[in-house]
Formats: sequence, structure tokens, C-alpha cells
Amino acid sequence: MTEPLKVGVAGLGTVGSSVVRILNEKAELIAARAGRPVVVTAVSARDKGRDRGLKLDGVAWHMDPSQLARSRDVDLVVEVIGGANGAAKSCVETAIEAGRPVVTANKALLAKHGVELARAAEEAGVAIGFEAAVAGGVPVVKVLREGLSANGVSRVFGILNGTCNYILTRMEKDRLSFAECLAEAQRLGYAEADPTFDVGGHDAAHKLAILSSLAFGVETDADGVYVEGITSITPLDLEMAEELGYRVKLLGIATRGPEGVEQRVHPSMLPRDSAIARVDGVTNAVEIDGDAVGALVLAGPGAGGDATASAIIADIVDIARGIRTPVFGIPAVQLTSPTRAPMGTHEGGYYIRLSVLDRPGAAAAIATRMAEQGISLRSIVQRGREPDFDRPSADPVAVVLITYATNEAALRRALDAIEADGHIDGVPQVIRIEKR
Ligand code: NDP
Ligand code: HSE
Repeated sequence: MTEPLKVGVAGLGTVGSSVVRILNEKAELIAARAGRPVVVTAVSARDKGRDRGLKLDGVAWHMDPSQLARSRDVDLVVEVIGGANGAAKSCVETAIEAGRPVVTANKALLAKHGVELARAAEEAGVAIGFEAAVAGGVPVVKVLREGLSANGVSRVFGILNGTCNYILTRMEKDRLSFAECLAEAQRLGYAEADPTFDVGGHDAAHKLAILSSLAFGVETDADGVYVEGITSITPLDLEMAEELGYRVKLLGIATRGPEGVEQRVHPSMLPRDSAIARVDGVTNAVEIDGDAVGALVLAGPGAGGDATASAIIADIVDIARGIRTPVFGIPAVQLTSPTRAPMGTHEGGYYIRLSVLDRPGAAAAIATRMAEQGISLRSIVQRGREPDFDRPSADPVAVVLITYATNEAALRRALDAIEADGHIDGVPQVIRIEKR
């Protein structure tokens, strides 16, 4: 019988527990696909006493994940601890130094240190599998790294955070509060240990930086991603989007153009009937625009233990079969440093919600400030309160503007002037409108 592949799993939380359980439950199927048995020989977590519902008889327990990574009982290390630094980084570095391949779901680690880890792994001749790090169970890494080898990619974009998509969908459909939806996403195991990474857009930014590297052959540049989260989105924004024929999604968008690589994560309005706009719940969806294949859309579960374990085990099977591709598709030493396209040069339409003091001349002054910057308005909607229909409201009223395509720097100048005029209360809500 062929020698088994001995796997050490560092981290036994939502994802690590699913990996161990599925490797046990589907041992026969996985052995057939891997060409050899795949067995868990070692695990690591902080709390040895916790019942995780796993059969761990005969499996070595390491309090220190780096000790697991250098253990002779392990041929391959699965890192599912999380975090860009600390125990996760030491574990992965130790495994590479010891000549052991690594499979990880850790997008924070790869977005921040992916290039140095890729160089070290390629010098050591070991693989790093990270399918699970982007879009959970959706095999987008393999598609970009292998399936689209013949294509130059101009844009990759989509829904990259299951927690945010789950929250926005439930707020919109079930009229629940942001806090209720976030608590439910945490209970279901979708959210990061610190959920501000999800709702602040940083988790999606990490994934986008990884996708940019794979798509454009550039070094991961997590600091170059423009990031806004979903915490300022209100039920009124979702309602207005519906009236105007859009849906609001947190999108990660990376494009390569003459100005350089533009990477941005922010709430976006998408035409309701576009492929990505229709994606609900924890589902992730990524569209890749390749010059040979055209537009390709992949969608599926973006978070959760079993979906993520599915991607991890696919990487393990590849490694068991001896498949080793350069970590980011081309050798790490050939990745180029990306030129960052500044956000000010971004062109597109905008949804702007202002809280306007309801008095004569306010709307005219707002329209004038827009016109001064050459911004053309496609629609203006004012929401007065029903009982005060015949006279101005004592409270500020919501005014929603939709612009034709303009440039971000011009829009910001117009909004600064509107704020300085004193006709509005609070900070304008700005949501970019994305083409399908
Ligand atoms: P959890 O918080 O559920 O699990 C983390 C695990 O790591 C726990 O078992 C914890 O131990 C262990 N751990 C933490 N610190 C140490 C340490 N110093 N030494 C040893 N073990 C340690 O996280 P998830 O399973 O949700 O996520 C794991 C990784 O997968 C992260 O990188 C995350 O971004 C990524 N990911 C998660 C997805 C999801 O849907 N949850 C989807 C895609 C990727 P203990 O249990 O004893 O506390
Ligand atoms: N917290 C992440 C999400 C997990 O909600 O998408 C998957 O990376």
C-alpha cells in the first residue's frame, strides 16, 4: 500500500474541526482521489480540555503549533489558527523551514506576508495551498492560477465576504437590524474571531489583494486597497436602492488600467438583474474578465466550517499527488510591484444621500455645487415625512442624488462645498454605482 500522507492540523476551531472530521469521515473517497491515504497524525489548539466532537485517539496534541510544524509525525501542515502574525505566521514559517508543504485558509497572513512566504516556499521546494483563503469553498484560486493561464485579466471583482453579504441580505429581506444579523452570522461560524475585520471591509481587502496578485502577476499590496465597510449602510439606503433598481453589496474590485492597479472594497450599488447583485446570504461570487475567455462568474459558499474544509482538502489532495505550482501562479521573484491607481481618478456613477435642512434654496445650492464640478445629476429624490407633506419639515429630510459617471476627486470637491454651505446635517452617505 502507498505510504499515507500524515497531516498536522494547527487550529481546531470552526474550520480546523471540519477538516479533521471530513478527513476521517471520507477517508476512503479522499484516499482514492489523493492516490494514497490521508491521515491526521497531529493537532494543535490552545484548550486541550474542550470537547470538539472529534475522534482524536492516537493523534499527537501540541500546545505549540510550531512544534507541530517541525514534528517528524507530520508531512503536511494545515494552518487554520488565523491572524497575520503570531502563532499562525511562526507555524507556517517553521513548516517551510522544515521542508513541509503548507495548506492555509489565512488570508490575513497571505495578504500581508504572502510574497515573502512564497519566496521562502519556492526556495525550499514546498507548496503553499490557499484555496480556502479566498471565497471559502469556491475554487477561485485554482481557476485564476491554473484554469485561466491563457488569459490576460483586466478585472476581478465580487462578493468576497460572506458575513457582510449575509448581513445585507437579511437587513434587506427580513428587515432585521445590523446588530441582529451580525450576531446570527457569528453564531453560524461565518465571522472572523474579530468581526470588525468583516464589517469594516478588511477581510474582503485581504482576499482582494490575493486575487490581484493571482490575476495581474503583482506582489500582494494589502495596504494599497481602498477600504470602506458596511457599518454606515442604513435600511433607508437599501430601500432607496430597491426603488432605483439596484441592490447594495460589499464588493471587492481590482482592475488593471493605464493608471495602474486599482483595488477597492466598499459598498456598491449594482443593477438588480446583474449576476453578482442576485447573490444572497453567505454566498460569495467572483467575476473574472479574461481576454480570451470573456467574463466568468463563480459562486458558492464563502464561509462556514465544512465549505472551507472542502477547499483545504482539495489542496491537500493536490499536494498528496505531488502537484506543486508557483504560489501566486508565476515564480514569486517574477511578481512585479504594482503601481497604485489613486482613488481620486476613479470614474463612475454615485448614489449620494444627504440629510438636508428643509428650507428654500437648499436643493438649488446642492445642484449648483455639483454643476460647478461638471457633475450631471441623473435623479433627485426627496423623502419628506408624510404628515408634513404640504410644508417644509422641521427636521432634516433625506435627499438622494444619483449622478451620471463622474470622477471621485470632483465628487469629493462638490461634497466639501455642500458641507461648507451649511445646508446639510451630518456626513453625506456615498455609495459607488458599479457597472454590471
Ligand atoms: P476559530 O477562531 O474558530 O479557530 C481558531 C483555532 O485556532 C482555535 O482552535 C484556537 O484554539 C486555535 N488557536 C488560536 N491561537 C492559537 C495558538 N496560539 N496556538 C494554538 N492554537 C491556537 O477560527 P476559524 O476556524 O473560523 O478560522 C481559522 C482560519 O480560517 C482563519 O485564518 C480564518 O480567517 C480562516 N477562514 C475562516 C472561515 C470561516 O468561515 N470561519 C472561512 C475561510 C477562512 P482553541 O480552540 O483552543 O481556542
Ligand atoms: N469571515 C469570512 C467571511 C470567512 O465572512 O467571509 C471567510 O473567509
